[in-house]
Amino acid sequence: MFKKKKGFILSLTVASSILLAAGCSSSTGGSDSGKNKGGDKLPAVGATIYKFDDNFMSYVRRAMEAASEGKINLMLNDSQNDQAKQIEQVDTLIAKGAKSLAINLVDPKAAQTIIDKAKAKDIPVIFFNKEPDSSVLQGYEKAYYVGTTSSESGVIQGEMIAKAWEANIEKYDKNGDGKIQYVLLKGEPGHPDAEARTTFAVNTIKEKGIEVEELAMDTAMWDATKATEKMDAWIAKFNEQIEFVIANNDGMALGAIASLEKAGYFSGDKFMPVVGVDAIPEALDMIEKSKMFGTVLNDATNQGKATIDLATNAANGKDVLEGTDWTLDDSRAVRVPYVEVTIDNIQVGKDAYK
Ligand code: BGC
Ligand code: CA
Repeated sequence: MFKKKKGFILSLTVASSILLAAGCSSSTGGSDSGKNKGGDKLPAVGATIYKFDDNFMSYVRRAMEAASEGKINLMLNDSQNDQAKQIEQVDTLIAKGAKSLAINLVDPKAAQTIIDKAKAKDIPVIFFNKEPDSSVLQGYEKAYYVGTTSSESGVIQGEMIAKAWEANIEKYDKNGDGKIQYVLLKGEPGHPDAEARTTFAVNTIKEKGIEVEELAMDTAMWDATKATEKMDAWIAKFNEQIEFVIANNDGMALGAIASLEKAGYFSGDKFMPVVGVDAIPEALDMIEKSKMFGTVLNDATNQGKATIDLATNAANGKDVLEGTDWTLDDSRAVRVPYVEVTIDNIQVGKDAYK
């Protein structure tokens, strides 16, 4: 009996890993049948996420699944960080009868290829999280973007760093030269968020009249484990010289904190201010434990919801904004605002991710 059960569980595991390997997960619970409570057929929406194994995107995905419930048959694919694979997935989704597409590009530069495929079949496309070039988006009147204004997160992060520095200069300015000696963990090069956050964070600090010295900057591809490796190397090289850790997202901030903890930081009087972006629950927890100074809310819930709201309307042949509170800017984008989050307003982050 026990043996049998084990075999059953094993075959289930094998079945699900085959599904995973195929990069395909048939969407949300309940809508698998593709029908709503009344038994009507739900419109099919094809979606891709650049990789399921991304901290922030897992929250966006959850919000998309919740928003799809009973409204659409969401065919959601894991593109496994492979642009060629994603293009094949889009072909399959179109072949399966997707009435609209919600695409989180692997490579922002691949937008044109996706648009060409969608346009040929007159299918609307909602890109989300990785913003295509505006000129590409403008080339197809049924193409939209849901995300943020990337630069805003950099400005908010820079302002937060400047405020923190000024309020704690005695403690933070370890060598007493008045300058911030920082290391910066960058997201994926070429990703509009990574580029804008890096530039705008540093420029905003300088605009506030604070001098900075960059000890090191490198990409850790948005990833905590990669960030720990980078930070280990930087601590070995610069040790006490580092006065601030600036991370393009919380995943990398968490990775840096793991490295700092190993090196004895956050105990006794060994301290390091660390900032990130996203406000994921794991980061809020670090802020409450005083291991992270602050973050910038990147509202995964509302971005996921807006993506599905627009995709659902599009799939039903309606105006994408019908019945919603979202607005489109001149470049046909819905932009969800960023918000500074520190211990003083931590509830803002908690509410957004609950
Ligand atoms: C988020 C990152 C995430 C990336 C994925 C960014 O907006 O801040 O955490 O890894 O999007 O594209
Ligand atoms: Ca200094």
